[in-house]
Formats: sequence, structure tokens, C-alpha cells
Amino acid sequence: MWFDSHAHIDDTDFDGDREEAIKRAAAAGVTRFVNIGCSREAALNTLELVEKYDGIYGTVGLHPHDAKDMTDELLAEIKGWAAHPKIVAIGEIGLDFHYDFSPRDVQRQVFRRQIRLAKELGMPITIHDREAHRESFDILTEEGGWENGGIFHCYSGSAEMAAEIVKKGFHISFSGVVTFKNADKLRRAAAAVPLDRLLIETDCPYLSPLPYRGKRNEPAYVVETGKALAELRGVTVEEMARLTWENACRVYRLPL
Ligand code: NI
Repeated sequence: MWFDSHAHIDDTDFDGDREEAIKRAAAAGVTRFVNIGCSREAALNTLELVEKYDGIYGTVGLHPHDAKDMTDELLAEIKGWAAHPKIVAIGEIGLDFHYDFSPRDVQRQVFRRQIRLAKELGMPITIHDREAHRESFDILTEEGGWENGGIFHCYSGSAEMAAEIVKKGFHISFSGVVTFKNADKLRRAAAAVPLDRLLIETDCPYLSPLPYRGKRNEPAYVVETGKALAELRGVTVEEMARLTWENACRVYRLPL
């Protein structure tokens, strides 16, 4: 059985076949995944999904792309949604200095506010960090954001940074990018993460692993990422499935 630690199955890309994609996941052994409710609309969709499907859990929060839309009212709504028993983390939150869709100062401030909310609620955090590795790390440290655990999702930093993140108690999640031919630097990072801190994700509908690169991604394909990591780490595919399942359950505080 496989656990996709980060998916966006509420995305409009799945409007034609969402039900079928969830069935294909189950048929491939991907029996649990966490859907990311990182906007008002996505959070409401996520709440519907977790109610409807046993194996789907969710997060709520505001993505750094949309940080400019944060209000006191929205933060209060996020807090309310987080009380649902199947909402397992605050996220994805963080910094994105690649696209800069929201001003950087606003991103920083909204990241800090949501770290404080996670601390208040005692919940783990899912981090989105794109081209802002050092600053994401420093803000988490300044805000005491490491204490409830969490995940650097779709990891894209160095092996050295990964070691620092692990030392702080967080988990590190790899997407299908780790299967790409030109991803040697990322594979070096994946090779350095302790096996009890390693997660896998699709981040679907984006970032399909080989051999599906360029096509829409879906939770069933997390198996390909798991196979690539098994080979990289010299463990069996079954062992990688078990490890990443247990790690996801630990960080999201779910029963095995
Ligand atoms: Ni995502």
C-alpha cells in the first residue's frame, strides 16, 4: 500500500474523471492521500473530499502565491476548518520567490501568521519553498515553527539543507521530479535523507514522474516515484512502500 503525501485532486484538471482517478489510485495500491486545501476554494473542496472518501485526508492554509489575499476573516476560517478530524496539517504555506505572485514582504508576513496558527493548534506544517530555502528555514526557526513537525514538500534544495531540516525534526517529501534524467542534484539530496524521514508525493496534477512526464499527474503515479527511490536507496519496492507509508502516518499523526 502506498501513501501519496501531497495531492491536489480537487484541481479543475480532474473535473472530468475525479472519481475514476481516485479508483485508479486504489487499484494501484495508493489507498491514502492528503489533499492540499491551500486556498479558500481548495479548502472547501478538500473538506468535501475527506467527508466522502475514507482514504483521503486534508490540509488547510493559504499558498504563498495567494498570500496577498489573506485577511483576518480568512485566517479565522482556516482555524475553523482545521478543527475537522480529517484535517491533518496546516499547508501548504511558505515562500515562492520563483513566481513572486504575491509581494515578498506579504509572503513572509502571511507565512509567519500561519506558522503561529499551526503552533496555536498544535498541528504539523506543510512547507512550500521555491527559491527561498534559507529564508524559509530561518523564518521557521524564528517563529518556533519546527515544534509540531512537518514536511518540506516537493523538496528542491541541497543535501546539506536536507540534513539541517531533518535535524530540526521535519520530514522531506520528493515528487516525480526525482525520476527525471537531469535530476542528479535532487537524487543526491534524496540519497542523504534518513529512511525514517522520507516521504513521496505526486503534487498532482503537476510534475508527473517518468514514464508519464508531460502528462497530467494523478495519485496512482506515486508508485513510480516510490520505485525510483527504492532503487536509489537500495531497498525493495515493498520496503519503500512500507517506510513512506509509516513516515506519512507519523508526521500526519494517523493510525497505521
Ligand atoms: Ni502542492
